[in-house]
Amino acid sequence: MARRKLVYEGKAKILYEGTEPGTLIQYFKDDATAFNAEKKAVIEGKGVLNNRLSEYFMVGLQAIGVPTHFIKRINMREQLIRQVEIIPLEVIVRNYAAGTMAKRLGMEEGTALPRPIVEFSYKDDSLGDPLVPEEYIAAFGWATQQEMDDIVSLALRVNDFMSGVMYGVGIKLIDFKIEVGRVWDNEYPRLILADEISPDSCRLWDIETGRKLDKDVFRRDLGDLADAYTEVAKRLGVLPTNVTHNPTKPTLIN
Ligand code: TYD
Repeated sequence: MARRKLVYEGKAKILYEGTEPGTLIQYFKDDATAFNAEKKAVIEGKGVLNNRLSEYFMVGLQAIGVPTHFIKRINMREQLIRQVEIIPLEVIVRNYAAGTMAKRLGMEEGTALPRPIVEFSYKDDSLGDPLVPEEYIAAFGWATQQEMDDIVSLALRVNDFMSGVMYGVGIKLIDFKIEVGRVWDNEYPRLILADEISPDSCRLWDIETGRKLDKDVFRRDLGDLADAYTEVAKRLGVLPTNVTHNPTKPTLIN
């Protein structure tokens, strides 16, 4: 294959120039990082699983009318996506207290919240993605007030979809992070879901046992991360055939 132009390399993914203008190829690496990349490892098969899982969620979201950047999966590790102007925010939706929220408010992890809560962190690793109020976002011009309202609506639709899909396979969606991008249709900006949705950016707990099936397994040394992601993929019926990690009884879903 001809050498492709690298556009951006992040912690878990690489972006290459796409096949047509306005597109990019998103490559899912096996690298896992936590605590702002202080903790690092290569988890064999993670990229393959996240490519499939993100495809599965994005396709489902599109089917219910949520606009996303996903165009098509190209191979085991790559997908073709629409190029967007990334809004520099990590948009977090929480259904149960966990992680930084539980710590900040002294709540027990797993406590149900009165309603889903959407919060914004400024996307800057060197600052540790600090939580920011809407006032900052508007003042610094990262997004307009209208865009923030649209982002909240989008995030809540993603939450309803993801909570339902996960509930259907016996998993509780504790919280998750999405990123949103701006695309231009003629002169009008429009927001679409970008980046990825995978167990790297969600908290997923087994409803029956409370077993963690997300990146906390890696953050907190709770076992084998690829096993946890494989379990999620298996339950959803999206396990690719040749993930070397757990090759028992694979099911191919095209
Ligand atoms: P949060 O509890 O704020 O942070 P941490 O994961 O450091 O405890 O995270 C809430 C959810 O959002 C959790 O599922 C992880 C996800 N998330 C990311 O994937 N990337 C990020 O940069 C941030 C801030 C959160």
